[in-house]
Amino acid sequence: MPRREHALSRRGLLQLTGATALGALAGCAGQLPGTDDSEGEAVPPRSTVTAEPDTSVSLTSSPGTVRPAPETSTTNWLYEGEFPGPELRVQEGDVLSVELTNGLQAGTTIHWHGVPVANPVDGVPNVTQDPVAPGDTFTYTFRAEPAGTYFYHSHVGLQLDRGLLGPLIVEEPDPHVEYDREYVVVVDDYLPEEPELPSDGGMGGGGGMMGDTRPPYEGLLINGRLPEDPPRFEVTEGERVRLRFVNAGSATVFGVRIAGHEMTVTHADGRPVEPVDVDSFVFGSGERYDAVIEATNPGTWAVRADALDGSEPPATAIVEYESASGGSPQRPSSASNRLQYGDLQAVSSLDGVSGEPDRTFDLTLSRGRSRSYTWTIDGQAYPDADPLQIRPDEHVRIRMTNQSPVVHPMHLHGHFFQVGDAIKDTVIVPGHRGQVTIDFHADNPGRWLFHCHNLYHLDAGMARVVEYVE
Ligand code: C2O
Ligand code: CU
Repeated sequence: MPRREHALSRRGLLQLTGATALGALAGCAGQLPGTDDSEGEAVPPRSTVTAEPDTSVSLTSSPGTVRPAPETSTTNWLYEGEFPGPELRVQEGDVLSVELTNGLQAGTTIHWHGVPVANPVDGVPNVTQDPVAPGDTFTYTFRAEPAGTYFYHSHVGLQLDRGLLGPLIVEEPDPHVEYDREYVVVVDDYLPEEPELPSDGGMGGGGGMMGDTRPPYEGLLINGRLPEDPPRFEVTEGERVRLRFVNAGSATVFGVRIAGHEMTVTHADGRPVEPVDVDSFVFGSGERYDAVIEATNPGTWAVRADALDGSEPPATAIVEYESASGGSPQRPSSASNRLQYGDLQAVSSLDGVSGEPDRTFDLTLSRGRSRSYTWTIDGQAYPDADPLQIRPDEHVRIRMTNQSPVVHPMHLHGHFFQVGDAIKDTVIVPGHRGQVTIDFHADNPGRWLFHCHNLYHLDAGMARVVEYVE
């Protein structure tokens, strides 16, 4: 059951203080017409939260054993020895403090994917902090808002694909949809060995000049389990069940279906949308969808997440009615009503992005021309790439054109953006000249990474820093 112990008076107080009040001010400033030089001061850097934390958590990153099926195990890098890492769950507006202790022989960080935190706690090595050295600790304190389904992960190199990830749930005080029970569904790809870029000999080489290869994944996971040993989600007939899907995979676009039930998508990247009924959705690395199902069809049913660009057996979980007598789960039929971005209508609009933008970037996403494995934005491979400079309070537009045949799930740190009528933080740009335009309000000064969330594309250069200048 979702927890309902909401401290309303405390929340009411919090909303009048600290970062929230600054956010509200920035929102007002965004509605002023025109742009002049003095206006930038209306958006000061979001200050690091100093209030007493409502929730304090310690996370140690260290090598640990992953057992995705009874006969299968490997050593990977984990938080608290768990895979996925421990679920962090707080109420919207709470101050969350996480002390990271690095028990690895390599530097590491934690990034709070999707949460518009203050810049110093965004967890990006060489952009917002130095990597936390082996044996050292670093404390990330931030206000957990807005509510939504998020995840946290290491932002150093290819560490995400070693298992340094976990869900972060920020509960809303007053959900716009009703439900009786919920499950978090972390979908992932399973790499039992040390990740490498193809130029370092990984991924079996090849892939051609324009195409791409995935790492040698040995399977696909839901909540850290292979299909041989799927997690079970118990439901009772008549319940409405909220499923919070997180694509925590490093290089896999998943198509998700549930047998015997329609999904009502209620949130995209954590943000509430007008409920939309579908039988499937596709999501790229870093995207999240929440969907509610009505438990009106007793039995044992499979949740399946297929790799769109891979041949591994689909990641699987089981929805099992209390009344069901076991037996093998029924598989979903083929998808006919798949969610499109155009179906997503945010419940409330994003401030500061109406009308014409103050600044527009036209960016081309492509495979590098050199022999080495690189992925570029406008021909530049990060970190040898120019920052995208913006000014506080601007309405910024980024138009992306994908000149490669593979999809790129593009993620912006520190801000939500509008794409169509949706508000998201990660969006798939389809291959073969696919075009996507995003708009955001420059309301969180700092230096923020904007990048492809395919970890191998990111590591091979498909990133830029979005930098505020006065
Ligand atoms: Cu999950 Cu830079 O992001
Ligand atoms: Cu990419």
